[in-house]
Amino acid sequence: MIPLDIEAVRGDFPILQKPLPKGLPLVYLDSGASAQKPQCVIDKEREVYENYYANAYRGVYRFGAIVDEELEGAREKVRQFIRAEHSDEIVFTSGCTMSLNLVASGWGKRNLKDGDEILINEMEHHANFVPWQQLAAQTGATCRFLPLTDDGRLDMARIGEVLSDKTKIVAVTGMSNMLGTLNPIDELAKKAHDAGAVIVVDGAQSVPHEHTDVVASGIDFLAFSGHKLYGPSGVGVLYGKRELLEQTDPILFGGHMIDRVYKDHSTWASSPAKFEAGTIQIAQAIALGAAIDYMGTLGMDKVQEHERNVLEYAY
Ligand SMILES: Cc1ncc(COP(=O)(O)O)c(C=O)c1O
Repeated sequence: MIPLDIEAVRGDFPILQKPLPKGLPLVYLDSGASAQKPQCVIDKEREVYENYYANAYRGVYRFGAIVDEELEGAREKVRQFIRAEHSDEIVFTSGCTMSLNLVASGWGKRNLKDGDEILINEMEHHANFVPWQQLAAQTGATCRFLPLTDDGRLDMARIGEVLSDKTKIVAVTGMSNMLGTLNPIDELAKKAHDAGAVIVVDGAQSVPHEHTDVVASGIDFLAFSGHKLYGPSGVGVLYGKRELLEQTDPILFGGHMIDRVYKDHSTWASSPAKFEAGTIQIAQAIALGAAIDYMGTLGMDKVQEHERNVLEYAY
């Protein structure tokens, strides 16, 4: 494999061309918190505003049609990137936190009851921790903790102590923002399913760093943010298996998410519209498609190989 041409990659990011005060080159080490943007993502967002901006899924004029087409194109890119089966399984949200809250409130409240259990662990980001704590408080369910080993891994040897037929949700990060640990998602998904639970994966850190295949890995719900994937801030994704999204209630109500509205009740559109109430992040979601194209040009294999080399060097 031809390695990543780091100088060329640096050249794709306008902010890295701006020298620091003493003329030193900028080396940005906080991509885990939020990544800088390549020119193509900046250009795409600008293209929308300069050429065809309009509201989404409402306008029957030219700009409206272009926006709808671009948005659905971006949704399709996300689908391919995480290898989901259907594009209606891809919901645009405001970010990973929102996606996880949507699963906790929309699926969790409907499907959990007193006595049920949620399996989490102590390496989770608060975004994949507090929503489950809240869900437990609201439903009478209990949060159980899969212990960690001394070297910062999930202690899979002890999973039998905390996973049982009472477990309804296994919530786990694909890659820890705290420890960098890569978790055994395929194995966890299998164990969760054998116990009759769904697996919710926080992909905020894993999706930008490694290949994701929701079907092969058996992932039921996957949440991630655009801004850590070199895309714009303000946009994120929730992937959910079609049948699970059908069992998920919307948590935001308003325009676009409805099917019919009567004086005394309303009915909902199907996914993804059901979960995209109001005006979504139009230019951001479209530019997220450009970020995914960019990752495709780099090649996730090369990205992973480069990171392994950096890791070895650091060790
Ligand atoms: C592992 C992990 N999960 C979730 C989040 C929350 O992402 P956001 O703030 O984009 O919603 C982060 C952000 O740092 C994270 O690292």
